[in-house]
Amino acid sequence: MTASRIDLYSDTHTKPTPAMRRAMAEAEVGDEQQFEDPTVNKLCAMVAELLGKEAAVFLPSGTMCNQIAFRVHCRPGDEIILDYSAHPINSESGGPSALAMAQTRALHTERGIFTADQVRDAIRPNRRHSPCSRVLSVENTTNFGGGSVWPIEDIAAVTAVAKGHGMITHMDGARLLNAVVASGTSAREYGQYFDTLWLDLSKGLGCPIGGVLAGSADFIEQAWRFKQQMGGAMRQAGIIAAAGVYALEHNVERLAEDHENARAFCRAIAQIPGIKLIFDRCDTNLVFFDVAGTGLEAAEVDKRLRARDVHIGAMGPTLMRAVTHLDVNAEQLAEAAGILREVVV
Ligand SMILES: Cc1ncc(COP(=O)(O)O)c(C=O)c1O
Repeated sequence: MTASRIDLYSDTHTKPTPAMRRAMAEAEVGDEQQFEDPTVNKLCAMVAELLGKEAAVFLPSGTMCNQIAFRVHCRPGDEIILDYSAHPINSESGGPSALAMAQTRALHTERGIFTADQVRDAIRPNRRHSPCSRVLSVENTTNFGGGSVWPIEDIAAVTAVAKGHGMITHMDGARLLNAVVASGTSAREYGQYFDTLWLDLSKGLGCPIGGVLAGSADFIEQAWRFKQQMGGAMRQAGIIAAAGVYALEHNVERLAEDHENARAFCRAIAQIPGIKLIFDRCDTNLVFFDVAGTGLEAAEVDKRLRARDVHIGAMGPTLMRAVTHLDVNAEQLAEAAGILREVVV
């Protein structure tokens, strides 16, 4: 199937721009396993600095960032506390149990933002029958929470409870820079509450590949062992790291456009009979809506949209998700909303 003309399926569908490709083509490279790739080294230093951590490691994906962090932090039988909609629970092929040999404890929330009381209640008593509550993981922005941004006070509160119980704190920052741009809270401010955190390059930042995981120098050394073990250690990876360097220099501030476009798209589709927005607010670039009121299933709406060259993800029987990103502009979004109206009414 060829790519849709207006592709709102995901911000992972962005293609590298000519300028990004040029940066990739011209990148200085070396063997990253020997720490001899200057572009990888530069990217890691940039991200460590941005997140306020001692060191960082470049990995092929965000999934590997989560999984290696959990692998380092957990012993078999430990428990990771996180929201029930969190990516590691739903979309990482059972990685926490398969790789870190840890179980997950899901907290139920509306938007992926849980409270200090929920964390307190979920932490296990210190007795040998119970798993050890080892890691608190926070997703910011929340994917299935509608791209919601965690308020910094809430982060301070939940991580204080976790740390008070000797737990390790981890942030899944797949879309952390969307949160930064939307809230005005710096990545470093978010970072100070977490032992480990990462950001994805292949989402709103527009790179083809990669995530960067940051933490203490000791943590990164341990992470390297699992990067090697899982086959994530690369060679002349500067070719792809260059896209990350380019994106951090050029594609961060513009995320505000994606957020504005998402809000305009929300306003437009809220007027369509039978379409119901799932969340009352759109903080960033993810728009979830229900099509039940149209009498159609999401799969049928998806099919009709694709026939008109628009791609919006069917995420459940009647649930759909549209994502704004640097490959769609305001005019295309208005056109997509118009086509959505035509196919459901
Ligand atoms: C919140 C969240 N975490 C982790 C990931 C995994 O990232 P990757 O696709 O780079 O493995 C995603 C991807 O969609 C995500 O949305």
